[in-house]
Amino acid sequence: MEERKGFGTNFGFLMAAVGSAVGLGNIWGFPNKMGASGGFTFLIIYLILAVLCGFIVMVGELAIGRKTGKGAVEAYHVLSKKFKWMGWMGILSAFFILFFYCALGGYCIKYVVLNVGDLFGAGFGSNALAAVADANGTSVGAEVFGAFLGNPTEAIIYGLIFVAITMIIVIGGIGGGIEKVCSVGMPALFVMLVICIIRSCTLEGASEGLKYMFVPGWALANGVIKEAPDFFSVVSTAGGQMFFSLSLGMAAMITYGSYLDKKENLQKNAIIIVMMDTLVALMAGLCVIPGRFALDPTGKLGGPSLLFVTMQNVFDRMGAAGPIFGILFYLLVVFAAVSSSISLLEAVVAHFVDKARDEGKGDKRKLYSLIGAIGAGILCVIVCLDALGNAGISPADILGMRVDPSDEVPTWSADWLDFFDCIAEGILMPLGALLMSIMYGWELGPEVVHAEATREGQKFGAYGWFRICIKYITPLAMLLVLYGQIKEFFF
Ligand code: TRP
Repeated sequence: MEERKGFGTNFGFLMAAVGSAVGLGNIWGFPNKMGASGGFTFLIIYLILAVLCGFIVMVGELAIGRKTGKGAVEAYHVLSKKFKWMGWMGILSAFFILFFYCALGGYCIKYVVLNVGDLFGAGFGSNALAAVADANGTSVGAEVFGAFLGNPTEAIIYGLIFVAITMIIVIGGIGGGIEKVCSVGMPALFVMLVICIIRSCTLEGASEGLKYMFVPGWALANGVIKEAPDFFSVVSTAGGQMFFSLSLGMAAMITYGSYLDKKENLQKNAIIIVMMDTLVALMAGLCVIPGRFALDPTGKLGGPSLLFVTMQNVFDRMGAAGPIFGILFYLLVVFAAVSSSISLLEAVVAHFVDKARDEGKGDKRKLYSLIGAIGAGILCVIVCLDALGNAGISPADILGMRVDPSDEVPTWSADWLDFFDCIAEGILMPLGALLMSIMYGWELGPEVVHAEATREGQKFGAYGWFRICIKYITPLAMLLVLYGQIKEFFF
């Protein structure tokens, strides 16, 4: 039988896992939520949750994968009688996220091209739109994004390019594709981020952004938000953000763990992944938020509009060097998105590749990567056609929930991106992590993780802590997150 090939080095594994974790969630989710939910206070709550749940579930998922050496479906199947179907749930949420991730990744490629156009004053840049923005009293960023959303063909082409890039890397396999790309891409991302932070934080007026991010209560006192969120909603926002950001509850870390060498230290790796992800989220904040406060003080602070309207305005107003920083920034976002999307596709593909190999059908990685990419591509097209709910084909429109275009509808129905996100991030992910902690805490017993983490004599100093968390604290916290997410997305 053919051998199942894993990561060549622990550094390669780390870069791939950090790459999976670092993504759009870090760039447009974390800084904005931190600013709106109490700055430093939010950061501390986030860190506590990361220690109580994020780290625990991370070790648990890596252990499931490495112990079984299988993709998520088989891994749960081998481990548990009661929860053997859970792998499917993980794969499903990975697949759902992939649809809109690819659409957004495509948008990012478009903005790299746009800024190249601006650099050379070419027609595909945003220059032509400056006059339109003046005439309409809007901004260049708003005009660029509006025009782009109004032209789904362009969005589809870029989305499919992104799907193709993801597929080609996954076809290369773990060591040959994913590890190689992430080992170069992640350090490059880091360097680009540092350059962008220096530019952003030295703009005049940048300090307002730093206050927004770090000073508790600043956003409320300065009218950036209207109402202070209550403690409960801060905790559930932080918990939801953390899980999404760490790629937990969606089969991805189980799959990467299954390719990890038996002699590596699970506890150490989990700590590094959690720390790096949080560090990059903070750095992403230092890059985007001061820019917004300095150059586009009324721009949106989170979500797609932050990336595609506010940030483009920032580069537009930066003067001659704007397009250069624009290229650097959007390229960095493309790297972050690609390194996440490959782990999403890999989580889906690994199961089928393993199955074919175990049945003696040989290496079918190419075939399954292609099938997975076609599936993701088709749904990515729907997300692109929907143009973030602006094209009249959103779930709310189809179900007749919106009589007047200005009617407020629940988040899940506002557009297809949110629809897929709500199912995955709102339900499947917290549920997956909740059930996983119940499986370890109550069905198999935490000893299983201890045995796996220390199988070649590695240290697992946090085991006492892990035991208490996985049995009591993590499930409770996950219930809270589940409740918060459902409330936010569906009501
Ligand atoms: N962590 C990614 C981000 O911050 C998004 C994500 C969520 C993800 N779940 C995932 C990536 C699973 C890969 C696998 O943007």
